[in-house]
Formats: sequence, C-alpha cells, structure tokens
Amino acid sequence: MDPQHNLKKYNTLAVDSVCERYLSINSLSDLETLPKNLKVSDMLVLAGGSNLLLSPQINRLVAHIQPRNHIQIVDNLVVAWAGTSWHELVVWAISHKLGGIENLALIPGTVGAAPIQNIGAYGVELKDVLVWVEIYNWQTGGYHRLSNEECHFSYRHSIFRYHDQPWVISRVGLDLRPNRPINISYPALSQHLADISDPSYADVAKAVTEIRQSKLPNPQQLPNAGSFFKNPIIERDLADKLQKKFKKMPFFPIPGKSDILKTSAAWLLEKCHFKGKRIGDAGFYHKHALILVNHGQATHDDLLALVHSAKKAVKSRFGITLEEEVRIV
Ligand code: EPU
Repeated sequence: MDPQHNLKKYNTLAVDSVCERYLSINSLSDLETLPKNLKVSDMLVLAGGSNLLLSPQINRLVAHIQPRNHIQIVDNLVVAWAGTSWHELVVWAISHKLGGIENLALIPGTVGAAPIQNIGAYGVELKDVLVWVEIYNWQTGGYHRLSNEECHFSYRHSIFRYHDQPWVISRVGLDLRPNRPINISYPALSQHLADISDPSYADVAKAVTEIRQSKLPNPQQLPNAGSFFKNPIIERDLADKLQKKFKKMPFFPIPGKSDILKTSAAWLLEKCHFKGKRIGDAGFYHKHALILVNHGQATHDDLLALVHSAKKAVKSRFGITLEEEVRIV
C-alpha cells in the first residue's frame, strides 16, 4: 500500500487530487488483499475515473482497479473482468459478431463501472443485456452474484449508487447474441445510417462512434467526465406549463409512465447561456452544453462553482433541479 498518491492522471476531468493511501488492484487475488476491517466510508474504489469529480484530498484508501482486458465466454454469456475497457469489450463483441452493446461504443470507463450508473446511449442501456454482476465483499472476503433484477436498474441508476455496501464489482456477465435485432430508433442514429439498408452491428457501432466524436470532447484532448447532469424527469403538470412558455423545449416520453416526462439538461443549460461558458479554466463545452470541461488548471472548487451557478440559473428560470450524474467525492 503506497502512501500519498496523486490521482490527477486517473480522473478524466484531470483534477489535482491526492489520496492518503493507494492500492493497485490487478486481479481477483489482489481484491482479496483488501483490509477486512475497513468501513465503506474509508474506501474509494477507482477505475477509469471517467464519472468522478475528486476533492483535492481524499482521506480514504483508494483501491484502483487497473486497466486489463479479460473477456471469456462462459455458459453462453460474455464474462468480463471489471478492469476491462468498456469500449474494448464493444470492439471484442463486434469482432465476434455478437450484438447488444454496439450502441454503447466509445463510452469511456471500465466494465466494472458500467453497472453503477447503468450506462446508456442511443436508445440502449446496459440493463438490456446484463445478466449478473459479481461483487467481492471485502469485509467477509466472499463473492456474490446479483441478478439483473437485484441490481434495481433505472435511468443512470442502480443499487450500487444508493446502497452503501463493502462491495467491489469484480466481473459482469452479459447476454450478447449473434441474432439480436439492432436498435436504431434514436433519431440521430437512424439519420446517420439512412444510406445503409441492412446495417450490421459494426455499422451501428461506427455510426455511434462518429456521432459521439462529432459532439463529445475526447478526455485526452479536453478533460471532461461526459454528461455532468442527468436529464431531468419532471411531472407532466410542470411540463405542460413549461411547454406553453417555451415552445421548443424538448420532452421525451418514459415508456409505461404517463404522469412524468424526461427533458434535456443540455437544452436547459443552453437556454441559460451555459453552452461554451467559461470561468477561468472551468467551462461547459461549446458543442454540447451538458459536458463540463477542464481547460487546463481548473480545480475541484472552480468546477463546482460553475456547476452551482448553472444549477441555480436552471432552477430560477425553469423551476427544475438538475441532478449530478457525475459522482462528487
Ligand atoms: N441539446 C441542446 N444543446 C446542446 C446539446 C443537446 O439543446 O448543447 C438538446 C437537443 O434538443 C438534443 C437533445 O438535447 O436533441 C439531446 O442531445 P443528445 O442526443 O446529445 O443527448 P443528451 O440527452 O444530451 C444523453 C446521454 C449521453 C448519451 C446521449 C445519446 C444523459 C445524461 N446523457 O445525452 O450520455 O451519449 O444521450 O444517447 O442521459 C453520459 O452519460 O456521459 C453521456 C454522454
């Protein structure tokens, strides 16, 4: 266990952050060396660091799941080690002609982090293909598998986000198949594929990659953590009121629910003039208002100050409280 480790290069917002103790985790046997007496609040499990805003000083043990791709087919399921790069898993699935995650191409981060926020893009969520999540309980030293239902998945949410347990996700099992129908219902995706009559999984992944590259910044070039806020879900009454006032405000139905609607956080931020706004080195991306970016030396506090002013502006103009998707530690 190393003392005082700098985490700047392990978080995609590239924020300066130092941790008290650091442990590198390369395998299941490394997981088993985690101290059993450690409380949940004394541990931070860090993987790709692509959905985190870190404080300057982390007074916890940071267990850093190292990047290492390990993918197998076991009992017809695709089983991947938590440290596998999510995008590499998508590439692997396509090269094996297995469908189900092609819409999730180019999402940064690791396989182990994917269930935490139920990653989703272009009409598909991880929960649509996930069969189980294996967790290691560092206090008991045992492994346990949670079924899809037990993970309580919903939009950008799962049991792993609200249930504080001494768990590290170690592996996931996915049902990827050669005969899954493709899903190109998302308008930007169907438009992009309009010239291809029978798109393959590879065509869909290529289209998603191109769309993402056209509007989302590459964290290696411009540090960011993807969408900073969730798209808000609001009551129909409020939506009706807002629709009358803001004719172009977008609303998206939520399958099976008629009393609530999803709206676009990016649209709200843009209307409050945050698209491309910059205070010092903290900013919102000029091509997509939902992406908080670090133009250089922005600190945790600089980024949070901008976040707070954006939330305040959206609340006062629309009466909507934006909720962070990114985890603030
Ligand atoms: N829009 C604006 N201004 C902008 C950008 C978008 O008004 O600057 C509006 C437009 O009306 C547009 C709508 O927002 O039609 C939706 O934009 P987009 O298709 O880019 O999707 P999003 O809702 O902003 C969500 C996910 C993304 C995911 C895309 C595609 C969340 C919080 N974000 O973004 O996920 O890639 O859909 O499915 O649900 C992430 O979670 O990190 C992420 C990037």
